[in-house]
Amino acid sequence: MRVDGKPYTTIWAGDDGASIKIIDQTRLPHRFEIITISDVDTAARAIAEMWVRGAPLIGVTAAYGLALAMRADPADANLERASAHLKAMRPTAVNLQWAVDRVRRLLEAAPPPQRFKTAFAEAGVIARDDIALCEAIGMHGLSLIKTLVAGKPPGAPVNILTHCNAGWLATVDWGTATAPVYKAHDAGLAVHVYVDETRPRNQGAALTAFELGQHGVPHTVIADNAGGHLMQHGGIDAVIVGTDRTTASGDVCNKIGTYLKALAAKDNGVPFYVAAPSPSIDFSIADGVREVPIEIRSEAEVTHISGLTADGEVTRVRLTPEGSRALNPAFDVTPARLVTGLITERGVIEANASALAAAFREGIAG
Ligand code: MRU
Repeated sequence: MRVDGKPYTTIWAGDDGASIKIIDQTRLPHRFEIITISDVDTAARAIAEMWVRGAPLIGVTAAYGLALAMRADPADANLERASAHLKAMRPTAVNLQWAVDRVRRLLEAAPPPQRFKTAFAEAGVIARDDIALCEAIGMHGLSLIKTLVAGKPPGAPVNILTHCNAGWLATVDWGTATAPVYKAHDAGLAVHVYVDETRPRNQGAALTAFELGQHGVPHTVIADNAGGHLMQHGGIDAVIVGTDRTTASGDVCNKIGTYLKALAAKDNGVPFYVAAPSPSIDFSIADGVREVPIEIRSEAEVTHISGLTADGEVTRVRLTPEGSRALNPAFDVTPARLVTGLITERGVIEANASALAAAFREGIAG
């Protein structure tokens, strides 16, 4: 996608063939800065501190991180250490484990002197595959949006609500939940997006609003609490969100607050779709509420907020009284019964065990 008219992906290999470049997402939307990463510890830090975030992108970053670990020391012990270290950075998105395990399996069969090159190349394949998965999701989602357009008065926009950032910034390109929106917009369909701000880190207000604006997609940022009201008044035609881990039975783990949107959607008869590429599906578990590990992040993300001052400085301020404790679960689980459909790279399927098994008989590719 484009930033100030220039095409970017969120991550790419450096010209030296021994480093990667990322967009520092902690600085958006007020600053656009690129960071070069040349070692596994910095890659791990980038994931933990959310310089990169979003399930698919942290998987790709970890794959490159493992390659950088092999450049420093390709021995078996380091392969094991680096794999465990990277996987521990964020527990919820299954893409992180999936990508590390995929590269690691390949490296276990490779002689140590070949491990860096093998891993770096495989990380590139995962990144390219991610673009293709997202684009396929975009095309399947476009069909859904076309159906919604057909039910609207001529010229009236289709109103999509999304939560968090499951946009191109969360993937390598296109995004998952936003890919259908970009495809619809590019096809000339009138589409408008309500963007949940997504407290506490504000991925919607900061990142989704930024990328939709850069692509010229009409959008409106709303407080997280506004979605139910809009649905009651017919303001939302469909909800489309991403996922960090969807279980074999179709339970969807995604950014905290997604569950409340699904409940409101159900109560108001608004279709609730989840864009779910296969590396975000965990076929080893079924019960999302009980089995998905939910990351608990720092209190400071709730007690403080950052923004741009009138002087053009980005600054951080405290919201809560000194001494008030905060709790910060980063994800929640939406039970499959609240999900209208999963938009996968293989088409739109029902969120249940038999539909998932039929669509992905061989489990997750790779
Ligand atoms: O904590 P984050 O910003 O990494 O959470 C991101 C989300 O919850 C996204 O919705 C999810 O990863 C899907 S991204 C295509």
